[in-house]
Amino acid sequence: MKIGIIGAGNVGSGLGKRLATSGHELCFSYSRDPAKLDALVASIGTSARSGTPEEAARFGEVVLLAMTWTQVPDAIAQIGDAADGKIVWSAVNAVNSTMTGLAIGTTTSAAEEIARLLPTSNVVEGIPCNAEILHSPSLDFGADRPGAFVCGDDPQARQIVLSLLSDVGLAPTDAGPLVAARLIEPTGFLIAYLAYAQGMGGANTAMKLLRRNTA
Ligand SMILES: NC(=O)c1ccc[n+]([C@@H]2O[C@H](COP(=O)([O-])OP(=O)(O)OC[C@H]3O[C@@H](n4cnc5c(N)ncnc54)[C@H](OP(=O)(O)O)[C@@H]3O)[C@@H](O)[C@H]2O)c1
Repeated sequence: MKIGIIGAGNVGSGLGKRLATSGHELCFSYSRDPAKLDALVASIGTSARSGTPEEAARFGEVVLLAMTWTQVPDAIAQIGDAADGKIVWSAVNAVNSTMTGLAIGTTTSAAEEIARLLPTSNVVEGIPCNAEILHSPSLDFGADRPGAFVCGDDPQARQIVLSLLSDVGLAPTDAGPLVAARLIEPTGFLIAYLAYAQGMGGANTAMKLLRRNTA
C-alpha cells in the first residue's frame, strides 16, 4: 500500500522502515529539519520519498500520524484536506509535554479528538509498542511478539491497520470501536512508565493480550 507518514521521529521511522521491508511505499513528512527526512529516505531506498505533510497525505492510501500530542493541531493544519475520505492511522498517545502522564483521558482520547479534527477521515488507532523495540533487530520475545490494540469505527479500516501492524511484525488485537482508545492510551503509557520510569528497559518491555482458546 501507499502510506503517507506524518512525523518521522522514533515511531514514524521505526514503523516506516519495517513497512518498507514488507513492500509498502512510503512518503515521510513533518520535521523541523528536512535533512533528517532525506537521510531516512536514503536509508530505505526507492520505496520511500519525502514531502510536505499535505503531499504525504495525498500520496497515502493510509495516512499515519506519528507526532507528539502537542503537535497534532499543527500537523493536521498542514495536512489540510488531503486526508479527507482516507484511513488515518493514529499512533499518537496523548502524553503531556513533560512526559509525566496523559494530557487527556478517561472521557476522551487522542484518537477521538483526532477524529473530531478530521471528521471526513476514517480514524483508526494503532499505537505500536515502544519505538525502541521497532528499531531493534528482532521483535521476538521468546515465542511471543509485542501486541498492539487497534480500534476504530469502520471494521474494514480496522482490518487494514491490523494487517499493516502484522506486516510490521507485531501481534495486534482488534479492540473494536474508536471509543476503546480512552482505555488503550493509558495502557500504552503504563508500558512507557514501566520501561523508563521503573527501569524495565524500552527494548525489553512490551505488552500482548493473552487469551485462552475455549473453542
Ligand atoms: N516513542 C515511543 O516509544 C512511542 C510508543 C508508542 C506511541 N508513541 C506515540 O507516538 C507519537 C510519536 O512519538 P515519537 O517518540 O516518534 O516522537 P518524536 O520522535 O519526537 O517524533 C515527532 C515527529 O514530529 C516532528 N515534529 C515535532 N515538532 C515539529 C514541528 N514544530 N514542526 C515539524 N515537525 C515537528 C519531529 O521532527 P523533528 O524532531 O525532526 O523536527 C518528528 O518527526 C507520540 O504521540 C507518542 O506518544 C511513542
